[in-house]
Amino acid sequence: MAHLHQGIQRLLGQFGIKISRIDAGTSRPLPDVLANHPVPDANPVWPLPRGNKAMTNDRIRQDFGRYEAWHYAYEFEGGLSFPIKTAFPGPLTDLVQRPLLRYRHFMPYLLQACGGSLQGKRVLDIACNSGFWSVQCALLGANVVAFDARPELIEQAELIASIVGVENIEFRQLDFWEMRPENLGGTFDVVLNLGILYHLPDPLEALRLTRKMARDCILLDTEIYPSRKATIRLRWEEPRAIRSANRSGIVALPSKQSLELMFRDIGMRSWSEVPLHTGEMPRDYLDGYRASWLIKV
Ligand SMILES: C[S@@+](CC[C@H](N)C(=O)[O-])C[C@H]1O[C@@H](n2cnc3c(N)ncnc32)[C@H](O)[C@@H]1O
Repeated sequence: MAHLHQGIQRLLGQFGIKISRIDAGTSRPLPDVLANHPVPDANPVWPLPRGNKAMTNDRIRQDFGRYEAWHYAYEFEGGLSFPIKTAFPGPLTDLVQRPLLRYRHFMPYLLQACGGSLQGKRVLDIACNSGFWSVQCALLGANVVAFDARPELIEQAELIASIVGVENIEFRQLDFWEMRPENLGGTFDVVLNLGILYHLPDPLEALRLTRKMARDCILLDTEIYPSRKATIRLRWEEPRAIRSANRSGIVALPSKQSLELMFRDIGMRSWSEVPLHTGEMPRDYLDGYRASWLIKV
């Protein structure tokens, strides 16, 4: 039955139609942002520009080679490209197009919520990994602060930013639980909470801290527990790959319903799930194991 339901949702999704059960208790839609269909497309800057002319191909290859693992594949102008590098392959994370498809999924809505541009906005990129999102936002004119718990990822992110030649990003090594305005130079117009919630043990507290960082918008993108009930699944995670939690321990996977209850409990002003408008998305989004929200604080 669940498969049939998902199949129908996916089919209708290809025509831009989405059926949702409305729970009057939890939903607080963002009429101004998501009612305005269709939102204009937004595409990542890809391949990445080579703004730093002093960095030769050989030098870049050498710098990439210093790291055993790369979470994203990178492509630069002039045909220079690097694959995902991991000792822990997986069908979802090994999809080279994954960040580009995610960008086309939720960035149009974020841009629309920000009046069409990130120019001059202060953006926080939580758990930035090697800086894919930070660099894209910097290329859109944002002033970005980004952090990750893993020092080697901060080095990688600095390398990417220096090849591209963007200077409007400050990368920091920081643990999520140390995130507060006084540690990061104040609050932000936009907070990117992408791919991190399900690597943490306490989603309610994590969302509370995220809210404290934001003065306008949060973009949340997370794996979810596929239940219609307000359920949280606990599981154990080891810090084995550079995309994982940074310590061994319990991590929590909330369902959509439980996430929306949390938004309400925290007092978020309004929120909407970003609709799937194309079947050209990674399977976890299409099959209801991952979703994104635009939240106004
Ligand atoms: C799945 S990757 C997501 C990367 C990126 N935000 C995205 O969505 O494409 C998870 C990232 O979270 C980082 N991370 C895990 N636990 C963390 C913590 N406690 N504090 C800060 N970063 C953490 C990892 O190092 C990794 O870069």
